[in-house]
Amino acid sequence: MESEPNTVDQHLFHKLVARAGAAGLLVVSLLPGVATAQDESPTQLRQFINQQVGGIEKLVVPELDEALPQPRLANGSPDPRFKTTEAKRFLGKMLFFDPVRTARILPEFGGLPATRQTASCGSCHLGEAAGKAGMLINFAVGAEGRGYTDASGNFIPRRRPRQELQPQRRTPLFAGDALVDELPTLTDVYELAVGSPARGRKLPAPGRLVRTGRLDALDSVGRNSPSVIGAGFNNRLLLGGFAGEPDSAPGGLNPFDFTAVESVALLLLDAHRMLDFQSAELQKIAAYRKLFRDAFPEEAAQAPGCSPQSTPSPGNCDLLINDITVLRATATFLRTAVSRNTPWDRFLAGENGSLTAGQRRGAKLFFTAASEGGAGCYSCHSGPMLNKQVNDPDVAGAGQFVEENFFNLGLGDHPLQTLNVLARTDPNFRDDGRREITGRDSDAFKFRALTLRQLKDGKFFFHNGSFTNVKDVVQYFNRGVPQDAGAAAAGTLSARFTYPRGAGSPRGLGLSGEQVEDLTDFLENGLYDPALVRFDPESTTKTLEPNEQDLTYSVYRPDLAALGAEDGRMPSGRPRSNDDALSRRDMGLEFLDVTSLVDVERVESNRVGGGRQEDLYRITNNRTSPVDTHLVIVAGGLSDQVRMENASGITNAGDPYLRVFLPDGVLLPGQSIVMRLLFKQQPQLPAVSYKLTLLSGQGKP
Ligand code: HEC
Ligand code: HEC
Repeated sequence: MESEPNTVDQHLFHKLVARAGAAGLLVVSLLPGVATAQDESPTQLRQFINQQVGGIEKLVVPELDEALPQPRLANGSPDPRFKTTEAKRFLGKMLFFDPVRTARILPEFGGLPATRQTASCGSCHLGEAAGKAGMLINFAVGAEGRGYTDASGNFIPRRRPRQELQPQRRTPLFAGDALVDELPTLTDVYELAVGSPARGRKLPAPGRLVRTGRLDALDSVGRNSPSVIGAGFNNRLLLGGFAGEPDSAPGGLNPFDFTAVESVALLLLDAHRMLDFQSAELQKIAAYRKLFRDAFPEEAAQAPGCSPQSTPSPGNCDLLINDITVLRATATFLRTAVSRNTPWDRFLAGENGSLTAGQRRGAKLFFTAASEGGAGCYSCHSGPMLNKQVNDPDVAGAGQFVEENFFNLGLGDHPLQTLNVLARTDPNFRDDGRREITGRDSDAFKFRALTLRQLKDGKFFFHNGSFTNVKDVVQYFNRGVPQDAGAAAAGTLSARFTYPRGAGSPRGLGLSGEQVEDLTDFLENGLYDPALVRFDPESTTKTLEPNEQDLTYSVYRPDLAALGAEDGRMPSGRPRSNDDALSRRDMGLEFLDVTSLVDVERVESNRVGGGRQEDLYRITNNRTSPVDTHLVIVAGGLSDQVRMENASGITNAGDPYLRVFLPDGVLLPGQSIVMRLLFKQQPQLPAVSYKLTLLSGQGKP
């Protein structure tokens, strides 16, 4: 089998498979028309995929960041302004996760001064959640918390509107609505002389901007936040293709004619409370002055007065640290946000054992046309990030864009769009995706195909977040039945979704339960790279989030440490992603003493032999607000003769503590939990005495 030629045609392939089957090497399915092999060899599968996509190299992720797609000049060389360099990538990564930038809080639009600089791009794009928000409704500025880890070590994203924003509306529109933004981010409401508020922000420049979701009390976008992984491979970004669309399109906003990644990095400065205000904040920080000088040597040469050591006077650093250099660094980071060491990548590189037999069957289905008995996924999910058409070029360039990465899959709206209907005073408003950008009815309800990498950590899928696991998404494609009547009736519903096996065939894919399992296994495990989440110095995949190496300046970046960068924090000195009290406790940076906020009752105390004493406590929340993250129970004042046997650790002050995982990471009003402390001492000694302190927070006290 290993000696098969590289380009076997379909006919020869079938013959080879049949021959191998006859030789007892393979189980061959005899279903007519079905690509036959159930368990063909890795080599055969590679050859098959090679044929299907016209060259397996189209699926390979370049090893080096510099080889990932980047904007090019007409002559094909990289555009020097946007060239990928390590200094730019590192700066971009720091900027993405540093809450220092969200400084554009304008009370006249409802912004709350207390929320200034509390969130970042990383608030809605978490490494632990596949680069997505991990929540159906995403929150940045105006919210608090990041997530908690359960007793088995799983990270559960959790970010909620700040307490003062919760009792917002008297009659909720849908469950949980009292918690959300009044206006989804991209809704602007202008004062009009006559008529109703304008839709979108390019339409007839009417009067004064009166309300905007971009600046109100809570930053939340009315779509499920997609992964940022692999964004650099697309010539349009955002789910309707807003980013990268020419300025001339009815819904286009691209004054500098940027490619998609630069375009999105600019648009989102405006969407997320950074534009015009972030630069002054960044200019104040010596470590950032250094990082910008490293990343932008030409601009640095023109801004000699903006050095790490200087105390820059206003305006001094404007040439070096401004919205454009920020977006250039951000774009470089986004382009390099890829995974490279999934079992799939290793399989493509020739490692035969990296995918299990089941995952190979799944991959086979993925790359087999539905009309041939496969699942046909590759027709919309190809390229290294599996987020576009087979022949869509990786490098953006004039005339190269392949429009058909947008499809109507019959999906309904994200729940937050209910608010959009109100904001736009248009009872018929629908999030119709690409049509809002191009103005073409033929684009109604089309959304961009998304990456399939890392989805095992994703919690919500599709632009409306209506699915919560990968298998359900596969089943949706398998059935081919649209979930939403409006999208289904728009005349743009993709036949590749409803009748992928061809006109006259039954609806959907017709995959068996086992095939659905195999495909799901391939997607969840074959396309998963742990090094994107947990730092692995051996891997060519970089963590999406800043990792211990990135943030241990004292060892890896003494230049930044010398300028005041503090280990474990962003260069601004703020915590990663979010800077609010609950996030700091979620991230183990600080604790809240809640001893007097809960009732602690000792319900039992038993001598259990061997000098052991077992004390059981009931902890009850009798207040009106929740204890909002896990507890650390510290036993203070123990005699030196006593050991706490079930201690989780010892505090910096030398007392043993027990970490208590709360159900769902909180102790709600009225809830109680029982916990047990086990002490050991010499049997003849009197009962153990100590004093309990209850701390809310997830770090080491
Ligand atoms: C409040 C949550 C939130 C914040 C904060 C946020 N994003 Fe997003 N992001 C989203 C959502 C939701 C979308 C999809 C929006 C759409 O399609 O209209 C998105 C889309 C994107 C995309 C496009 C992905 C794709 O496949 O099309 C990129 C890239 C991105 N964000 C980067 C960023 C950057 C950079 C920042 C910081 C400047 C940022 N995000 C801040 C929620 C957020
Ligand atoms: C006709 C094109 C097309 C085909 C065929 C197709 N997809 Fe998709 N896929 C899309 C589009 C478009 C989206 C995004 C839709 C949205 O969010 O509105 C998507 C989204 C997804 C998502 C959700 C990703 C996320 O982060 O939310 C998964 C999973 C997925 N597809 C898997 C598959 C599988 C598995 C197959 C084969 C059975 C498949 N797709 C076939 C176009 C397609």
